[in-house]
Amino acid sequence: MNLTLKIWRQADAAAAGAMHSYELSDVSPDMSFLEMLDVLNEQLNAKGEDPVAFDSDCREGICGACGLMINGDAHGPEVTTTCQLHMRSFSDGETITIEPWRADAFPVIKDLIVDRGALDRIIQQGGFISVNTGSAPEAHSVPVPRDDALRAFNVATCIGCGACVAACPNGSASLFMGAKITHLGELPQGQPERDTRVVNMVAQHDHEGFGGCTNIGECTAACPKEIPLDVISQLNKDLRTALKHGH
Ligand code: SF4
Ligand code: FES
Repeated sequence: MNLTLKIWRQADAAAAGAMHSYELSDVSPDMSFLEMLDVLNEQLNAKGEDPVAFDSDCREGICGACGLMINGDAHGPEVTTTCQLHMRSFSDGETITIEPWRADAFPVIKDLIVDRGALDRIIQQGGFISVNTGSAPEAHSVPVPRDDALRAFNVATCIGCGACVAACPNGSASLFMGAKITHLGELPQGQPERDTRVVNMVAQHDHEGFGGCTNIGECTAACPKEIPLDVISQLNKDLRTALKHGH
């Protein structure tokens, strides 16, 4: 495949960025999107030019590090992470636009890398869950209804990639927070801190500069783990309950 890449280049957080064009040939359809960028960077290195900075770690769809805005879609045209996207999803001769996540709460560090530390600070505000230390408990000593366990497991698949924020016109992290709140709130171990967790996480979310949710739904459409929109209803419900309890 021959491709034209239009890539956001920005030297550092303070610099003004701009789109730059690169021609790339001999791209295999079997390459992942990040492998394609690796090929570009090898060529830039060979020419003595600054390679394109982008984030990745596991390259297996589990760490959440690799998000890019590709042709205006968070993680590109498939329901998957950027590292699990393959070049067969694009056409020979295509022009591909590649940008970092755009959100006030995710400042650009360099080129395509943004600082997603705000999501970590929200998680830190979630505090603790109540699990006794010591040897492993007896299986089934804490009964969990099957449907609750399944729901908790499904929403626990959120990898904190931030695509939901990047896709949201309000720059809201409500889907991410809803996933975390629902995951812990469905399980007995998450009950003792349930009220304080939601109040503190929402306060941190707003403090970080994320926007409010207006039920647009772009977040769930962009989510590589298909976290459903109803976790935001759960988030709002838990917040209302906590406020009623005087938190
Ligand atoms: S809810 Fe989905 S899009 Fe948002 S951080 Fe979690 S995995 Fe990524
Ligand atoms: S590099 Fe880990 S999810 Fe993509």
